[in-house]
Amino acid sequence: MVNVRTIGVLTSGGDAPGMNAAIRAVVRSGLYYGIKVFGIRKGYDGLINGDVQEMSARSVGDILQKGGTILQTARSPQFKTEEGLKKAMAMAKVFGIDAIVVIGGDGSLKGGKDLSKFGMNVIGLPGTIDNDIGCSDYTIGYDTALNTVQDAIDKIRDTAYSHERCSVLEVMGRHAGYIAVNVSISGGAESVILPEKPFDMAKDVIKPIIEGRNRGKKNYLVIVAEGVEGKAIEIAKTITEATGIEARATILGHIQRGGSPTVNDRVMASVMGVKAVEVLKNGGRNRVISLKDNKVIDQDLDEALEMKKVLSEDLIKISAILAL
Ligand code: ADP
Ligand code: F6P
Repeated sequence: MVNVRTIGVLTSGGDAPGMNAAIRAVVRSGLYYGIKVFGIRKGYDGLINGDVQEMSARSVGDILQKGGTILQTARSPQFKTEEGLKKAMAMAKVFGIDAIVVIGGDGSLKGGKDLSKFGMNVIGLPGTIDNDIGCSDYTIGYDTALNTVQDAIDKIRDTAYSHERCSVLEVMGRHAGYIAVNVSISGGAESVILPEKPFDMAKDVIKPIIEGRNRGKKNYLVIVAEGVEGKAIEIAKTITEATGIEARATILGHIQRGGSPTVNDRVMASVMGVKAVEVLKNGGRNRVISLKDNKVIDQDLDEALEMKKVLSEDLIKISAILAL
């Protein structure tokens, strides 16, 4: 039984590699189940402005391997107002849209929840490199970002070794340290500074570097999550002053958001995109698609957005043990 006849799909907030795979999956599975699919450009702004186009199987051809989002994205202050939400609802009516699949981060899903209060059926897909969405163990784009950072670490290690320097690398993640703690393990960092955990410069950063040097280390890596007070440049300066070891700061920035998605991101985005459409086809209303215990599931939108995620203490400990 098909409960929805026409759906819209949009990407919102920060783009993430794999969003295109998710768009493709929503469009093609929609068509497979006899549902008309509109692509809404530039996130919620596009919905308000009617920047909407019908999608075909071919319109999502050749995008699986591309980073960014073909629908483009936006942060829409207007959508946060009641007037903006009403305009968005009115425009959805113009196109006969019964349900909207929102691919984006925490903010975008909150926006979807607000829209659902005006009567729209919203299905959320977690899409952000930060992996900071409470209801899902995984977010589309996270794996690609991790691999991009790891590639940068491997390159930085070459020059750090040659000069016997300390590299201080600032990575993204907004207020969360998921990227930081994982790359500190995969990149073998001496120290990782996280927003979730208070740190002591002398004990947590200087000491492991000095001890490492005394054991014969030839280069050092400190990972700093962008959400931490006191950024990479100041931390590098302090390290040089305290240890005499030359430190250089690198802020990786938006390079972490780009690039061809990894297999993991493509598969996860594809599975989640199809799941979103199947949930709608089966009469689901206002759900978030999530990965939980290695299963792709759907959860109530309101409840899902109340869920909190805690950075694994085990990962933090493992990172410290292996810095030896
Ligand atoms: P992300 O989705 O990557 O977390 P943002 O937090 O910037 O990115 O959110 C993207 C957009 O979602 C915002 O520009 C806004 O239009 C909408 N949005 C965010 N938070 C809310 C909210 N609390 N209520 C309504 N809309 C919101
Ligand atoms: O949410 C993804 C993210 O890249 C965060 O890691 C970062 O804090 C933020 O977006 C940067 O946003 P902008 O692209 O608007 O500078």
